[in-house]
Amino acid sequence: MPVLGLGTWQLTDDTADTVKTALDMGYRLIDTSGDYGTQAGIAAALGSSDVDRQDLYLVTKVEEDEDAYDATRDRLRELDVERVDLMLIHRPPPSGAGVDLWRGLQQARDDGLTVDIGVSNYSIEDMNALIETSGEVPAVNQIEWSPFGWSQTMLDYCNGHGIVIQAYSPLTRTERLDDETLQEIAVHHDKTPAHVLIRWNIQLGVVPLPKANNLDHLRENLAVFDFELREEDMRRLEERNEHYSSLGGSLAYA
Ligand SMILES: NC(=O)c1ccc[n+]([C@@H]2O[C@H](COP(=O)([O-])OP(=O)(O)OC[C@H]3O[C@@H](n4cnc5c(N)ncnc54)[C@H](OP(=O)(O)O)[C@@H]3O)[C@@H](O)[C@H]2O)c1
Repeated sequence: MPVLGLGTWQLTDDTADTVKTALDMGYRLIDTSGDYGTQAGIAAALGSSDVDRQDLYLVTKVEEDEDAYDATRDRLRELDVERVDLMLIHRPPPSGAGVDLWRGLQQARDDGLTVDIGVSNYSIEDMNALIETSGEVPAVNQIEWSPFGWSQTMLDYCNGHGIVIQAYSPLTRTERLDDETLQEIAVHHDKTPAHVLIRWNIQLGVVPLPKANNLDHLRENLAVFDFELREEDMRRLEERNEHYSSLGGSLAYA
């Protein structure tokens, strides 16, 4: 799995051209979902791009009220591909841990429709319930994650179980880009706050999925491999944790 991806929620201004440009720039992981409205644009971008399908990592999701197997087939049709790399349960259903959805995804994986299967917006309790019932550990938990909203307990749990955390809203949907600590660290490294947030994730071993429609943002968000946050930077950022969620209130999983 690439260490950095492109989020496509609300990437609705000319999705096809933006994703094609992102692929040209070097993005190799694209995250979408059936309800983002970006699948058709991504399909068009894949069709017009020179990048080999085998070099791309496509992530999409099944909604909690869908049949997971049928939904996987729908997602493949929407993306115009024969398989994706990762299918996620978008969020746990209102009751239970989504075991029926999980069984549908297992079948889809066994039939070659997806390489890996995982979850999104799952708490540790949700993941424990799924693992106990199915005997299989999800490959990924995609959750909201930034220095302002994250969980050491979740990080330890996922590291202990070999679950990759994918960070959504890693730029806090821009809400915290003016944070003083973040700004100071960015200035020290002659980088931007967005660079620091993306780099913080990568150094934690978490895969950030920043979304950008603006081409300058798209380019900027890839320029994170020419500097390293110091231990003191990592610690100062981690101390900013207030379980912040850009959805309002505090993180549901922490
Ligand atoms: N699994 C889930 O339940 C779930 C939930 C939410 C999101 N996600 C995924 O995670 C992705 C990212 O999360 P998100 O879209 O909520 O928020 P985000 O990536 O934290 O923030 C996106 C916002 O940041 C701006 N931006 C991008 N790069 C910037 C830069 N270098 N400097 C300043 N501003 C910048 C974007 O502007 P422009 O677009 O104008 O460039 C956009 O307004 C989503 O697109 C989606 O793929 C998953």
